[in-house]
Amino acid sequence: MAKGRKNGLYDGISEELSALMRTGWADTERHDLEPDAQAPYAARRREALSARFPGERLVVPSGRLKVRSNDDTYPFRPYTGYVHMTGDQARECALVLEPRAEGGHDAVLYTLPRDGRDTDEFWIGYTAELWMGRRRSLAESERVLGLPCRDVRTLAADLAADTEVPTRVVRGLDPALESAVTTDEDRDDELEEVLSDLRLVKDAWELAEMRKAVDSTVRGFDDAIRELSKAIATSERWIEGTFYRRARLEGNHVGYGTIAAAGEHATIMHWTSNDGPVRPGELLLLDAGVETHSLYTADVTRTLPISGTFTEVQRKVYDAVYEAQQAGFDAVKPGAAYRDFHVASQRHLAEKLVEWGFIEGPAERAYELGLQRRFTMAGTGHMLGLDVHDCAHARNEEYVDGVLEPGMVLTVEPGLYFQPDDLTVPEEWRGIGVRIEDDLVVTADGHENLSAGLPRTADEVEAWMARTAG
Ligand code: GLY
Ligand code: MN
Ligand code: MN
Repeated sequence: MAKGRKNGLYDGISEELSALMRTGWADTERHDLEPDAQAPYAARRREALSARFPGERLVVPSGRLKVRSNDDTYPFRPYTGYVHMTGDQARECALVLEPRAEGGHDAVLYTLPRDGRDTDEFWIGYTAELWMGRRRSLAESERVLGLPCRDVRTLAADLAADTEVPTRVVRGLDPALESAVTTDEDRDDELEEVLSDLRLVKDAWELAEMRKAVDSTVRGFDDAIRELSKAIATSERWIEGTFYRRARLEGNHVGYGTIAAAGEHATIMHWTSNDGPVRPGELLLLDAGVETHSLYTADVTRTLPISGTFTEVQRKVYDAVYEAQQAGFDAVKPGAAYRDFHVASQRHLAEKLVEWGFIEGPAERAYELGLQRRFTMAGTGHMLGLDVHDCAHARNEEYVDGVLEPGMVLTVEPGLYFQPDDLTVPEEWRGIGVRIEDDLVVTADGHENLSAGLPRTADEVEAWMARTAG
């Protein structure tokens, strides 16, 4: 009799039960699956990766389930580079690019096959198919992804058996795979850098997904405003939950923890507790993004007057941030230095802060010394895509020190944050936080604001509140 799990209510499994479980199942192999529309794009991404590492074997794991406690796991999120190179989202897999003698690579996807019903593995243990849901068979995955697929359980042994080929692996995802190959940390880091570099310019399929993410996010912001009175009666959580419902209905999830920050919480950059009151007269900063089923995310912020209209001071801050954002937008075009939009926005905010007497001028000197950062806190934006802060491992010369190219997608998100305990500003300014964040794609002759569907000027925002707020 096989042993049951500790503190489980069943002592074990009888031979008879085991035999009973293995019999009487229909053949559910699917022969109707079509190739994924993303497959040809993923193939081109792999070609670009292949060209960067001639003669080397590359191993890109998808990552493993993380246990939260006992047999409860965190929601699985596949490694971004794996998703980009395969279009797949399965756990415990790895893409292997095997170098060919004549140049180039053969791509093979090592993946978990279905649990066979001739052993107990399909129904015992919390990761078994009967508990977690059906997986694709190897043949099904081959058809959907357009890649040859093999059983991942043989991969570590395959790699350990052939150590002649120089190998790089993305580290930190699959310890068993890492220990099966002899690699060098710096060389492995280069693989991760290149995987990040290759995501800087989005292909047509990715841009369509980004549009879906942003369009869904626009609807989520409308939902949140429509339910504002319920948030006033409860807390910021109502806003978070309302946006989440839209994200789960139309996409996979939210792309990052929603920031629903009312009143002085708006001055906290990473406010995700979202358990504070929503009071008329104060501002609500909502920073949220829907992640599509394909895992591309939007990242949008609007700062809204909860009563429907801005006070004089709130509007002054809002207008300064709006102007800074517009200055940033104007710098987003092909051939411009990536940094230009940040510099333009920060310069404008430094000027306003000098004009208001909160930092010492002249404005150019204040900007050079970075004095505005006391109130602007963060950089003005970042690349966006499969990760909210996409391409984070890209080489500096390709990203922060690089040049904008058509197909890049980035956020422009200046803000001003006056902390509630900041004695250097007048009392009525304290506790005000404003950020406006939009998602821009660089085009052949400038940019397109993907999130232009959301009102942006102070007047437009007030009109939006008037027609939408419930
Ligand atoms: N929501 C994270 C960011 O705006 O960067
Ligand atoms: Mn952002
Ligand atoms: Mn954001």
